[in-house]
Amino acid sequence: MSTLRCTPLHDDFGARVTGIELGEPISSVQIEGIRAAIDEYSLLVFPDQQMTDEAQLALTSQLGEPEAEHVTLGRTGETVHFGTVGNISADGSQHGNEAASTRYQKGNQLWHSDSSFREVPSYVTITHGYEVVGEGGETEFVSARAAYDRLDSADRDLVDPLEAVHDYLFSRSPVAPVHPAHAASLPPVAHRLVRTNPGNGRQNLFVGSHVRSVVGWGGIESRELLDRLVAHTTHADAVYAHAWSTDDTVIWDNRCLIHRGRPYDADRWRRRMRQTRVVGAERGRIH
Ligand code: OGA
Ligand code: MN
Repeated sequence: MSTLRCTPLHDDFGARVTGIELGEPISSVQIEGIRAAIDEYSLLVFPDQQMTDEAQLALTSQLGEPEAEHVTLGRTGETVHFGTVGNISADGSQHGNEAASTRYQKGNQLWHSDSSFREVPSYVTITHGYEVVGEGGETEFVSARAAYDRLDSADRDLVDPLEAVHDYLFSRSPVAPVHPAHAASLPPVAHRLVRTNPGNGRQNLFVGSHVRSVVGWGGIESRELLDRLVAHTTHADAVYAHAWSTDDTVIWDNRCLIHRGRPYDADRWRRRMRQTRVVGAERGRIH
C-alpha cells in the first residue's frame, strides 16, 4: 500500500499529492486517505496521472454518488456523469473564441462553487487535464474557510444565522443564454451562508457568483453584504492559481473553496479537461 504524501501549495489550503496512481484500482484505505486530505487541504493536485474516463468514474463513485451533469440533465433529462471543460469537442475538433460553448464557459470565470445552485450542492469536483494551454487558462482557488476565520467577531455574528439564495439563472444568463428547459430545472435554492464541515467542525462562508440575495434582506443591503464577503474572500494574497500541466488530476472541495477559470485564447490553444462531481450530503431548500 502506498501512502499519500501531501506538500502544501498555499498558506491557507491546497496540497500537491504524490504516492498514488489514480488510474489504477484504489483501495478503501486510500479513499479514506483522500477524504481526510480533502477535509484538511480542500484542494488536491495529483501530478502525472494516467487517467481514463473509466478510472475517473470509478474514483468518483468511491468518493460518493456521481453527480448528473446539470446542463445535459436540464436540457434533455439524460444523466451523464462527465462534463468536458475547455474547447475540444468529442470528435477532437477545436472551438474558437466565438463558439457558443466557449462563450458559455466564460461563466466559469466568475468566482463560484460548483453546483451551489442545486438543492444538494456538490461535495467535490474532480478534473483531469488531457490538453492544457500554454498561456492563461489557469484555475484560481481561494479558501472560504480561511475567509471565515479572518472575519471579525461582529461580522461572524452577522453572517452566522443567515441564509442566501443561489440562482443559476441569476449568475449565468447575463453571460450567455441558458436553455429554457435547463433554466426550469434549476429553481433558486437557499443554503446557509456559513457552513460547517461535519468531520472537523471547521466553518466557512458559502458565497460566490451564484448567490443572488440574503434571505429576508432588502436588495441593496443584501448586495452590499454579498459583494463585501466575496471581496474579502478573494483578495489577491488568498488566491492560489493552478497553472495546469498535462495529466494533472485535481480534486477541489466545493463545500469550502470557491474558484474561477482565467481567460485563454481559444483560437490558439487546445484545452481539454474531463470533469466529474460527487453529490454532497447537505440539502438546501427550494426558494
Ligand atoms: C469548472 C470551472 C474553471 C476553468 O470546470 O467547474 O469552473 O478553469 N472551470 O475552466
Ligand atoms: Mn467551476
